[in-house]
Amino acid sequence: MCGIIAYTGNQTVVPILLDGLKRLEYRGYDSAGISVISRKKLKTIKSAGKLNQLEVKIDNSIASHCGIGHTRWATHGAPTDENAHPHNDSHHRFAIAHNGIIENVDALKNSLANDVIFTSETDSEVIAHLLTQQDGTLADAVRAVVSQIVGTYGLAVIDQQNPNTIVVARNGSPVLLGIGDGEMFAASDMAALIRHTNQVVHLDDGEIAELSPDGFKVMRMDASVANKKAITLNAQFAHYDRGGHPHYLYREILDQPDTVTQTLSGRLDERFSTAHLGGLNFEARDLIGIKRITILGCGSALYAGMAGAHMIETLARIPVRAEAAAEFRYRNPVIEQDTLYIVVSQSGETFDTLAALREVRRKGGFVLGIVNSVGSTIAREVDGGIYMHAGPEVSVASTKGYTSMLVCFSLLALLLGRSRDLSPQRGTSIINELKALSENIQRVLTLEPSIKKIANKYKKSSSAFFIGRTNGFPIALEGAQKLKEISYIHAEAYPASELKHGPLALVTKDTPCFVVLPNDELLQKTISSMEEINARGAPVIAVASTHNKEESTRIHKLAKAVIQVPDAGALTQPVLLGVVFQLLAYHSAVGLGRDVDQPRNLAKSVTVE
Ligand code: AGP
Repeated sequence: MCGIIAYTGNQTVVPILLDGLKRLEYRGYDSAGISVISRKKLKTIKSAGKLNQLEVKIDNSIASHCGIGHTRWATHGAPTDENAHPHNDSHHRFAIAHNGIIENVDALKNSLANDVIFTSETDSEVIAHLLTQQDGTLADAVRAVVSQIVGTYGLAVIDQQNPNTIVVARNGSPVLLGIGDGEMFAASDMAALIRHTNQVVHLDDGEIAELSPDGFKVMRMDASVANKKAITLNAQFAHYDRGGHPHYLYREILDQPDTVTQTLSGRLDERFSTAHLGGLNFEARDLIGIKRITILGCGSALYAGMAGAHMIETLARIPVRAEAAAEFRYRNPVIEQDTLYIVVSQSGETFDTLAALREVRRKGGFVLGIVNSVGSTIAREVDGGIYMHAGPEVSVASTKGYTSMLVCFSLLALLLGRSRDLSPQRGTSIINELKALSENIQRVLTLEPSIKKIANKYKKSSSAFFIGRTNGFPIALEGAQKLKEISYIHAEAYPASELKHGPLALVTKDTPCFVVLPNDELLQKTISSMEEINARGAPVIAVASTHNKEESTRIHKLAKAVIQVPDAGALTQPVLLGVVFQLLAYHSAVGLGRDVDQPRNLAKSVTVE
């Protein structure tokens, strides 16, 4: 999705903007640009394509200390030079960079004089033209314009007549202020700021901030001043680095033994054989009152939620369902007082998840968040939550974020279970299982050579199936998701029992079938599904937890290849089996020469509907 970086201070601005844009690349984009004020003139340089196509057009030494930059992910209009941001008004006084969508763009255009010439097909350009019609300070002008907008915006504006001032505004699309020493930054994402500062202020919807090298002032839409406090984020520049690896995704897969340790840190209560989750804002008695749980998320977060639903139902015997956040919010859901709602999001900015959260809270429901990005919008709007502590996830495809979601659900399931009928003995054995998780992931990572071999063998397939039963099904969904998003191989996940109700018609000798075999009571049944596939001549690749001799022999007999992960216990099996599929997708994508970290058409954080 689109990204914004803005700077005012004593340093030469162009290198700061270009570096900021590089840090935002991971979000996905198709064009980029910058605007700076130099020798009392506004200069705007932009280009379709990747950043190197912009860089060749820019003179790095332009004398300027104030400017804005933008990476665009096309919504209104194709990815062209003209449609790239920033946009200027006809007199080249203002430059604007906008994230979001203006729904009433036609009405706003009609309110302008007939002779205003638009140079792009974007909805955003109208903002620059509307600014020319306003009086007062730059902040006044921005306030007057955004008050007319129906839609969403994260906005940064510079004005050639106020050469050291930047005004930013937010409604539905994140904006962060970064506080430096005699300099101020603004960005849509911490990744663009971390090199310079970890002192940040998150703008809330309906807020406008005026930035100068001396500091910032945040105002509301009625022009009253909002006293915002800066927070210190625990992020480090090194987290946004590939760490010597060829791709962020690979680094993030390999980081998982450490990231799960961070997720678990301080949360295992061995004395009472339970989990300690300080941020829930719950009393013990509230836990007993929960009658149902609804988990909401998108994409991999939804699949993690589906796996989490199994964990909670198993350990706490509370009915749980997981649902796509966008579907939930649009079906006018019935919100119940004794239902606990959980929203799951790595970025904490996914629009549909945020909208579902707001729908529940508006109707009086209590919402917990499982979120990675500290201070993100979802994290700030929930009633309580569990931070994932997985560190920044840069690659578009989620790996360590997804894994930490599963770990958070394990902790919550343990806590809810222990508040009900789960025995202390079972609680202790779960704690031991979680304590061994990091080491067990390390063991799965040693299987990489054989997984790579399988990836290379099947990477030319045009289609693949992933099947599993109950606990194994969400793992199959996430396995198929990883493969399709980064390798572009068409992949479908089905409950194993559903194959014969339709999809079996597509199973041929050319469709590899990945079978998820957690060591649970349905193992024998899933092995029977392998027989069904085998009978159609399709290659079966088994990913299994069992080490039982008899079962292993059967599995080996039926499968072309078997990846055997440690038999670690019911709760952590989804994590270990999931890591296999992450490596499979990674090596398939590398083998096919795909853009692993920025797959086509996808964005890291989907901040639009
Ligand atoms: C994961 O690999 C995907 N890129 C995507 O499905 C993602 O999980 C989804 O967009 C939700 O993102 P979130 O966790 O930041 O809310």
